[in-house]
Amino acid sequence: MEFPFLTLGIETSCDDTAVCVLENQRTVLAQGISSQIAEHAPFGGVVPEVASRCHQEILLPLLQRILEEAGVRNPARQLSLVAVTAGPGLVGSLLVGVMSAKALAQAWEVPLVGVNHLEGHLFANVATHPSLEPPFLSLIVSGGHTEIVFVRSFGEYELLGETKDDAVGEAYDKVAKLLGLGYPGGPVVDRLAREGDPDAFPLPVPLEHSDEIGFSFSGLKTAVLWVLRRLEREGKPIPAAHVCASFQKAAVASLVGKIRLAVLRSGVRRVAVSGGVAANSALRSALGALPGVEIFLPPLSLCTDNAVMIAAAGYNIYRRGFFSDLSLSPDPALPLTR
Ligand code: KG4
Ligand code: ZN
Repeated sequence: MEFPFLTLGIETSCDDTAVCVLENQRTVLAQGISSQIAEHAPFGGVVPEVASRCHQEILLPLLQRILEEAGVRNPARQLSLVAVTAGPGLVGSLLVGVMSAKALAQAWEVPLVGVNHLEGHLFANVATHPSLEPPFLSLIVSGGHTEIVFVRSFGEYELLGETKDDAVGEAYDKVAKLLGLGYPGGPVVDRLAREGDPDAFPLPVPLEHSDEIGFSFSGLKTAVLWVLRRLEREGKPIPAAHVCASFQKAAVASLVGKIRLAVLRSGVRRVAVSGGVAANSALRSALGALPGVEIFLPPLSLCTDNAVMIAAAGYNIYRRGFFSDLSLSPDPALPLTR
């Protein structure tokens, strides 16, 4: 009997432990994510040592449950590939995923593929949209990255621009922290911004007048800090919704402005957006309104870190003829473009 091509995907690069079983390029048989938000929230951000310990505790029970849900009773016979995030990310967290994947691949005698987390984010869109074929532009916006990549073909990536300092998700998290809104900040800032006036505090749009494709978010975060300090000095209450809306207006204008520039320069009019900040409601609607540009977005569940995107990228990499051997080791700074 012919078995379908099943990929086991494992993602542990930061603070989410995620596992999935993917059939071919797009059919998710089962997936699970165990978030560690509660463990890290008291510290206002991810604590690397806590993250790796949590991955260790969570990964195997989660794996067992997902295999069961997917109907994989005999992994050695039924699985065709193990795909795992090899970097970039927190080295201790990556190590848990990579070592587990290597052990499983060896025990089951199944091929192994190490996946770049950013290529994973890019494949969240491929897993969602069957019509998305290169060439296209990819805007990756997450807690650690803000990049525009030209996808010439799968596996052939050219970095058109990236952030010089903070990632946009990081800026969301820092603004939330300044406002005492907890971690992670993106979703709550997004929600509060809907109730605020985006013109309440005019904030600078990063690199608005520069003709380079690039980003910078640390100055914007500092501008928010100055607004809060001024209000405090004047003894005024902090209108959190107005601050969120004003910050978001500038952040989104920067992302949309640079996408417009990248489209103009490259002549490529298809843009895939992914990463945690691709869940942002203001960004999604602003991009959707760009004339003459076709925007691809994953569903919200595939914007933030997940294992489906890793399995989808792993499947594609394997189909291109690449795989890893047991010398695979995590690289916290693994670049997407070499
Ligand atoms: O892709 P992701 O899950 O992890 C990384 O690879 O970094 O992205 C997490 C980031 C966090 O900074 C979080 O605050 C941000 O994505 N984020 C959002 C939203 N949802 C998550 N930022 C803005 N608006 C959102 N709705
Ligand atoms: Zn990510």
